[in-house]
Amino acid sequence: MNLLLEAKSLLSERKNFLSSKVIDFKKNFNRSPKLVVVLVGSDPASVIYTSKKGAEAQAIGLEHETIQFEASTPPEVVREKILELNANPNVDGILIQRPLPTTYDLKEIIYWVDPSKDVDCFHPENVGKLYLGLEGLKPCTPFGVMELLKFYKISLEKKLACVIGRSDIVGKPMSALLLQANATVIQAHSKTKNLNELTKQSDILIVAAGKPGLIDHSYVKPGCIIVDVGIHRNSKNKVVGDVDFDSVQKEVQAITPVPGGVGPMTISVLIENTIKAAITRSTNKF
Ligand code: GUN
Repeated sequence: MNLLLEAKSLLSERKNFLSSKVIDFKKNFNRSPKLVVVLVGSDPASVIYTSKKGAEAQAIGLEHETIQFEASTPPEVVREKILELNANPNVDGILIQRPLPTTYDLKEIIYWVDPSKDVDCFHPENVGKLYLGLEGLKPCTPFGVMELLKFYKISLEKKLACVIGRSDIVGKPMSALLLQANATVIQAHSKTKNLNELTKQSDILIVAAGKPGLIDHSYVKPGCIIVDVGIHRNSKNKVVGDVDFDSVQKEVQAITPVPGGVGPMTISVLIENTIKAAITRSTNKF
């Protein structure tokens, strides 16, 4: 391995940039941009992620609130709360943390948050803008990956990129952004046949399969670049990704660590989206 694609150095740059945007916003509008995170239930990983999002928002000078509902709360009650937040001019970004209880219909929920406050980029209007390459809020994890690749000067043009995973939150928007950056994209998923025949040809692997250790050295082309979106705890309580780091590290040119790679970038883009939503709703400029 030549290069560990850590978020650390980029994050301090981004923190300065985003904090200065918040200071300017406060001067102009006499308030801070506000992010509201809505949590339904108490999934332990979600509780940790939402508190990290809140801590980072506060560190950058944003106002922040987490609203937690019991897992048994009927969807109509949560929807009423979201509509109230949509109507509140001092709320700029709203995020409904996933996973949600199974009584919630994801195909309906994506319409709840006003598109101008949809910092996850889940609303069909924002998804449409993303696919058309129009200006708008960015999907946090895929955009965080693109920022990380840009920071490390990894060019995508003419490269063969294989995205493993087709979730609405990572895999699908990731492919759209890679395509816009002139990569040739293979969209692989859990029903893909002979996955390693595709990955072994690929210059870049973006692994968002949700399966710890899925990718080992038998899946990689020597000299490739790997971005690991997975995050799990193994039987030894160690945080690991979808990639078996020790198995692939001698083969690759560059790889993101887990933790310390994609995860913190996702939160940083969420904060950027909240500031952007605040500025756009107030002035139409960022
Ligand atoms: N759960 C894990 N990651 C995310 C995210 O980026 N957004 C939301 N809403 N839920 C998540």
